[in-house]
This record gives sequence, structure tokens and C-alpha cells, in this order.
Amino acid sequence: MTGVTVVTFAGDDGPRGATMNSFTSVSADPPLVLVSVARKARSHGPLTTGPFCVNILGAEQEPLARLFAGAPADIEPSWTEGALAPRLSHPLAWVECEPWQTYDGGDHTLVLGRVVDLGHRDGDALTYTWSRFGTLAESTGGIEHLF
Ligand SMILES: Cc1cc2nc3c(=O)[nH]c(=O)nc-3n(C[C@H](O)[C@H](O)[C@H](O)COP(=O)(O)O)c2cc1C
Repeated sequence: MTGVTVVTFAGDDGPRGATMNSFTSVSADPPLVLVSVARKARSHGPLTTGPFCVNILGAEQEPLARLFAGAPADIEPSWTEGALAPRLSHPLAWVECEPWQTYDGGDHTLVLGRVVDLGHRDGDALTYTWSRFGTLAESTGGIEHLF
């Protein structure tokens, strides 16, 4: 099971994004996160060269996940301007990044970004398992006791 993100960036003619579940945290100092971007994706060029924002989707945002995966969808995304990159208006959480480093990942490129800002709201999470979307309740027990 993974969470579901839309990775957003400034396109030539306005904000753009692509649905990605390869998001993971990498380093605390410096704060680094990673997404794995298909070389054939239209977003590959901008995401390997410029700032981006990882928008972690809430349980009710499956239509956005479908839209930014290229599926026909009858919704218009709402955008917010970040310091470096545009982001979706109401994601469950967002992580704004400046470019850090890219690595060869076969037919994907591993894109590491340095976190410059982030935020979150309350809510349940959208998940992806066995090619299906699902949800995870915020009330699910965590590992706070380990920290
Ligand atoms: C749940 C889900 C997760 C995805 N994760 C990734 C990913 O991690 N990396 C990637 O390159 N594409 C991923 N994709 C596929 C892209 O969302 C899809 O190819 C999209 O059309 C790319 O848009 P673009 O060509 O405009 O960049 C995922 C799709 C879905 C539905």
C-alpha cells in the first residue's frame, strides 16, 4: 500500500501535475524527498530541472489522482501559488521542493528535492493497493510512541 500524490510544477502555460505513488522520504539533514519519474512522461523535463511540490491526497481526492494520471475527468483543479512552485489548493499534505539531485533509475529518473516548505491538514488519506484506490482513516494507530 502506498499513499497517492500529485507532483505539481510550473508549466509553460500554467500549473501542471502528474499523479505519482513513488514518493518517499530520503534524508532529515538536509531534508530530502524522492519521486521516481518515467522518462517518457511529459513532466520528466520540468521535474528533473526545476522546483516542484508533492501534494499528498486526501481520501476524497481520488478524482484528482485520476485526472493527473491522464484519465478523463469532469473536474477542474484549484491551484495555490507556492514560493517556488504551484500546488493544489487543499491536499492532505504538501511538500515544496527545490531541485537537489537526479539519478539514473532505468526507464525512470530518481528525482531528489530539498524540502523548503510544507504543510498539512486533518483528514483521511487516499491509498493505492493492487491497482485500486482506497482510504486510510486518520484515527488509525501510529508509531508516535517510538519518538
Ligand atoms: C496511482 C498511480 C501512481 C503513479 N505513480 C507514478 C510514478 O511514481 N511515477 C511516474 O512517472 N508515473 C506514475 N504514474 C503514471 C502517471 O501519473 C501518468 O503516466 C501520467 O499520465 C503522467 O503525466 P505526464 O505525461 O503529463 O507527465 C502513476 C499513476 C497512478 C494512477
